[in-house]
Amino acid sequence: MILYFSATGNSQYCAEWLADHKKDDLLDTFYHIRHGVAAELQSETPWVFVMPTYCWQIPRAVENFIITGHFSGSRELYFVMTCGSEVGDVEPKLRDLCQRKGMNYRGVLPVVMPDNYLIFFSPPDQAQAQTIRQKAEMTLQQGLEWMNRGESFPPVQKESLDRLKSGMVNRAFYRFHVKAKKFYAKSSCVGCGKCEHVCPLGNIHLEQEKPVWGTTCTHCMACICKCPVEAIEYGRATRNKQRYLCPPYQGRDKSGKGV
Ligand SMILES: Cc1cc2nc3c(=O)[nH]c(=O)nc-3n(C[C@H](O)[C@H](O)[C@H](O)COP(=O)(O)O)c2cc1C
Ligand code: SF4
Ligand code: SF4
Repeated sequence: MILYFSATGNSQYCAEWLADHKKDDLLDTFYHIRHGVAAELQSETPWVFVMPTYCWQIPRAVENFIITGHFSGSRELYFVMTCGSEVGDVEPKLRDLCQRKGMNYRGVLPVVMPDNYLIFFSPPDQAQAQTIRQKAEMTLQQGLEWMNRGESFPPVQKESLDRLKSGMVNRAFYRFHVKAKKFYAKSSCVGCGKCEHVCPLGNIHLEQEKPVWGTTCTHCMACICKCPVEAIEYGRATRNKQRYLCPPYQGRDKSGKGV
């Protein structure tokens, strides 16, 4: 079974690509994460978790989903992490998670997709994003071949600072930087409520038809990128920056119906 968490569509795209090519079941974890419902799932095929990379680590919401969930059937667990460039030294945490769940760690496949973190970066334009996605499909194809042969993904190549980035820097990032207080809606907000519905942590509610942010933000970028009138900003960091959303996966026959 392929499970995914996705804020701006990259991980969803990769999960749908894998489900289509692997002919496997697919589950969006949004409901469980948003409502704090522990998963009770069964799969005879290996588990494949697809998710974004957040500060060189697995997103905390996904980590919690795995820790609290009950997964019966197959004991094999693969991770696919979409990223703007690299996943750092994420493997020790993933191995540890597998051990806690009584699962066999089968590796992590980093898949470079357009970077959605518009607080720090400017997302690529549409043509660049398309090229990045085409390369990502080649990486997914390689990952699929490993899985079909029953092999683990090869270890991720590490660089000297990766341990620091996935450890101390990640902890400081959540503690000091990941806050919602700089989010605001401009007067162009039409009060549609989409931001409230798409937040995976239920961190937004509308007051007098305007969004109000709470304190459980994970900086996923769903609210800011999915607002239909681009009314949301994060301080000055996102002004005049293009928003990013991955287009839906169209299926192998490109008809939009899948195969
Ligand atoms: C809070 C945050 C932190 C991120 N940290 C990293 C990172 O450490 N390394 C990286 O390569 N990309 C990083 N990214 C980029 C995302 O992992 C990447 O764009 C991902 O494909 C987004 O997935 P989604 O569209 O499924 O939400 C970060 C993005 C966000 C929002
Ligand atoms: S999605 Fe945008 S327009 Fe809709 S309520 Fe939220 S900020 Fe306003
Ligand atoms: S408030 Fe926005 S950025 Fe924060 S978790 Fe919710 S959707 Fe993501």
